[in-house]
Amino acid sequence: MEGRAGVIFRAVLAALFMSPILASPVQAQIVIAHRGASGERPEHTLAAYDLAIDQGADYIEPDLVMTKDGVLVARHENEISGTTDVASRAEFADRRTTKPIDGQELTGWFTEDFTLAELRSLRARERMPEMRPANTAYDGQFGVPTLGEVIALVKAKEAETGRRIGLYPEIKHPAHFQALGFDMLGALLQELSAAGYDRREDPVFIQSFEVAPLIRARPLTELRLVQLIAAQGGPVDVEGGSYRQMITVAGLSRIATYADGIGPDLRLVIGPDGAPTELVGQAHAAGLAVHVWTLRRENAFLPEDLRSGEDLAATGDIAGQFARLRDAGIDGVFTDNPADVIAAK
Ligand code: G3P
Ligand code: CA
Repeated sequence: MEGRAGVIFRAVLAALFMSPILASPVQAQIVIAHRGASGERPEHTLAAYDLAIDQGADYIEPDLVMTKDGVLVARHENEISGTTDVASRAEFADRRTTKPIDGQELTGWFTEDFTLAELRSLRARERMPEMRPANTAYDGQFGVPTLGEVIALVKAKEAETGRRIGLYPEIKHPAHFQALGFDMLGALLQELSAAGYDRREDPVFIQSFEVAPLIRARPLTELRLVQLIAAQGGPVDVEGGSYRQMITVAGLSRIATYADGIGPDLRLVIGPDGAPTELVGQAHAAGLAVHVWTLRRENAFLPEDLRSGEDLAATGDIAGQFARLRDAGIDGVFTDNPADVIAAK
């Protein structure tokens, strides 16, 4: 029979493993499935998210845009000819148009010109068929999911696996949609809240390249907020704004007044020689987590010394690139290849 000391030892162990400290170790990097497992399925489809969850991703990332009737759907941009079959659909030929998006003239088909019912009739396609020919086998098989359908998938997979699965939504072009009369942030918070996500400890991060929606969100939600940082340019909603300025010590301190983390291009975290920059340390000093993007296994997206052969579509040393990011001290990584990164961890 187990003695009293043994019982106490077991109780202490159980308490430790149930504690938030061991349940979410500070050093563990979260794996965020970038547009789903988009290295293996057409991006932003339920199939891509489903596979990412099966592979063990901690979070799935839906980028979000709006339909004409005000529904949030998962697409990387509101111009959808690169990821759907819209260009081949005769009934929508007259929707092709040119308009300014974030300061650039773009020609194509835009989600805000389609009702949800119309969008549902479209079929998703692989964005990079030359780079990912195997994914084209899935062209035409899946639709454009709504945020509600993505959340429903997460809940179903949580019930199936007993595992908590996080959501990492990004609102795309919020200033553009605001000018059209849509409140993307309000719609997102409402949908998340209705699904039970409204506390800080809930597994949700809300991200944006723009600044105003995050500042506006801060008093509206406890959910964690992430300021995205590109390697060039600046937020489209800040005149003269510069991402380079935003990652100075002063800039990071300013971000920390409204966000919980930054999501920088990984090239801002490790230099061309593979060595870490100062960014992670400076962000941590400001109290900000660092979730970098985007880790992909194809040679084209890896530094030369981690490539394998000459074929840019061939698989390189993604584990080596992850090791560099981990050694730089990151807290999380967006990846098109969650299985590879989890194996590397
Ligand atoms: O949101 C993180 C990362 O996805 C940012 O880049 O262009 O793929 O949304 P993008
Ligand atoms: Ca994104």
